[in-house]
Amino acid sequence: METPADPAADRPADGQAGRPADRPAVLLATADPLLHAEVQRLAASVGVGIVPVPDDGGLLRRWQTAPLVLLGADRLRATADLRPPRRPGVVLVSSGPVDQALLRPALDLGVGEVAELPSAGAWLATALADLEHATADGRVVGVLGGAGGAGATTFAAALGQVASRHDATLVVDADAWGPGVDRVLGLEHVDGVGWEQLAGSHGRLAARDLREGVPRRGRLGVLTWRQAAVPHLPGAEQVAEVLAAARRGHDVVVVDLPRLGDSRDQLAAHCDLVVAVVPATVAGVASSIRAVAGLEDPTRAGLVLRGRGTDELAAQRATGLPVLATMVSQRGMDESVDLGLGPVRSFRGPLGRAAGAVLDRLRLAGRVAA
Ligand SMILES: Nc1ncnc2c1ncn2[C@@H]1O[C@H](COP(=O)(O)OP(=O)(O)O)[C@@H](O)[C@H]1O
Ligand SMILES: [Mg+2]
Repeated sequence: METPADPAADRPADGQAGRPADRPAVLLATADPLLHAEVQRLAASVGVGIVPVPDDGGLLRRWQTAPLVLLGADRLRATADLRPPRRPGVVLVSSGPVDQALLRPALDLGVGEVAELPSAGAWLATALADLEHATADGRVVGVLGGAGGAGATTFAAALGQVASRHDATLVVDADAWGPGVDRVLGLEHVDGVGWEQLAGSHGRLAARDLREGVPRRGRLGVLTWRQAAVPHLPGAEQVAEVLAAARRGHDVVVVDLPRLGDSRDQLAAHCDLVVAVVPATVAGVASSIRAVAGLEDPTRAGLVLRGRGTDELAAQRATGLPVLATMVSQRGMDESVDLGLGPVRSFRGPLGRAAGAVLDRLRLAGRVAA
């Protein structure tokens, strides 16, 4: 049975007012009136409109452009027979438990999630709300110190300040031994969630919950430890989930990386670009060689030289990485941080300009494979 052709099928349903006309909508393919009503009710509860697709033609036409496809269990076999191209974001929805016999065709079709209603209702509502509020597919830049005290945390904070002039930005503190990025940015007294709260959560993290939950000033947010005496990062899977949610909710995500170790390598694998801040001294370059040697993908990495003691070419030769920016020490930086103003005093100063150069490079970086 097919639902009757709906003349409104090409238009967003109610609740979608304000959605730009050219933005594709979530699709719902089912001829099961109960399931249809239940999904519509969930979508309406989070203010998201969905487009019912009554026939195969309508489904195929929009298959690849829809941000999410909700495929009713009743339509699964017929859709699998159409052999549409594989795509992420296909959710199998059903009233009650899914028949085991459908799992094979679901796998063949590339279904990524199964939502059995009503028990998965809250999950589905979150996934829909999250889509609606995801602003972006942001870029992630990691910062590490080539040597201890090189200025990595300072540079990560500077990237956050400069990026947030125009873009929604999140600075993620992943270096448990650092001074706390919230302090460097003057956000330590602003309320918001930190790693401690996220460590307890499981499953998909909504981009909006992360963006609106963390301490924030204007377009600049920060994720760090808020109180832990002995801070530590959650497990790799959860960190990956947090970074994915950060990307969906921000244009630019900056990660203050630990200098070395497994967790640094795991985090670096999620970065579109990794920059090592290197003291421009013989000793600084020497210790940076070791720090960058473990980076899995040197084509996505570069240096920021701090100081004047060594030239770019020497640093480049020694590490095998290109110099993306050189900066002299920023005068008055410590006072600026102490006043809660962040390290960048002027966007035209050495720190501001170096951060700008790295952000330009980030814009050109391709997205690392997930
Ligand atoms: N660009 C800079 N200009 C001037 N001083 C800096 C700069 N970057 C760092 N510093 C100084 O070095 C100290 C250590 O910097 P930090 O960013 O915490 O280093 P790291 O994270 O590499 O250990 C800061 O407290 C600050 O006094
Ligand atoms: Mg640091």
